[in-house]
Amino acid sequence: MIDWHCHILPGLDDGPETLDESLEMARILASAGFRQVYCTPHCLLGRYDNRPSQVQGAVAILQRALRQAEIPLILSPGMEYALDEYLPVLLDRPQCLGDSRLLLVEAPRKTPKQLIRQNILHIRQRGLLPLLAHPERSPSLYHSPSLRDRLAQFGWWNAGEDGCFSFVRELRDMGCLFQGNLPSFAGRYGEIIERRAGVHLDQGLYRCFGSDGHRAEILRSDLAASLPRLENHL
Ligand SMILES: [Fe+2]
Repeated sequence: MIDWHCHILPGLDDGPETLDESLEMARILASAGFRQVYCTPHCLLGRYDNRPSQVQGAVAILQRALRQAEIPLILSPGMEYALDEYLPVLLDRPQCLGDSRLLLVEAPRKTPKQLIRQNILHIRQRGLLPLLAHPERSPSLYHSPSLRDRLAQFGWWNAGEDGCFSFVRELRDMGCLFQGNLPSFAGRYGEIIERRAGVHLDQGLYRCFGSDGHRAEILRSDLAASLPRLENHL
């Protein structure tokens, strides 16, 4: 198995703070059956100012530590970019996933749909393939999130209603690929997100999955809860 989205590198974002915790995350992933991990720290200007060279250096250091600790996991560099107004500047020297043309991106809360469309176009125009991280977790991809979420609390909204997913379909038609978060299938982010993830899975939307792991203990419980559920679904 491949983990396509994981904040396993230490000290670069809101992931592990120490090399020891990164090693523990690697042990957890390896024992769950993963053999390859894309290391994808956030790239957020002004908050997590990570550069490709930093990420590549951190991957080399952690890979060496994994070899010494005899943890059988292959690491590849990546980053998780925000589909915000700063993305076009960062596309001059992007960090794709490993040697691929895939660029992992996420839609922050409250991002206008028009900005998301423009950024997807920018990525495509550079000859890259946008891989949208955890669409099910991004309210900005769905209709009227606050009203819909309130209605859903009272059972008045069916997450499977077709209209709810029209923007996601539009992005797919623009050439966007989609990565599902494993914890979404175990309800870690709430019932609405779990239902959306189930609908997207039935739609065959997801190209790949990721743990989106940030800390060792949470990663352990997330994988234990989500992998059997996803296997059941599939
Ligand atoms: Fe992430």
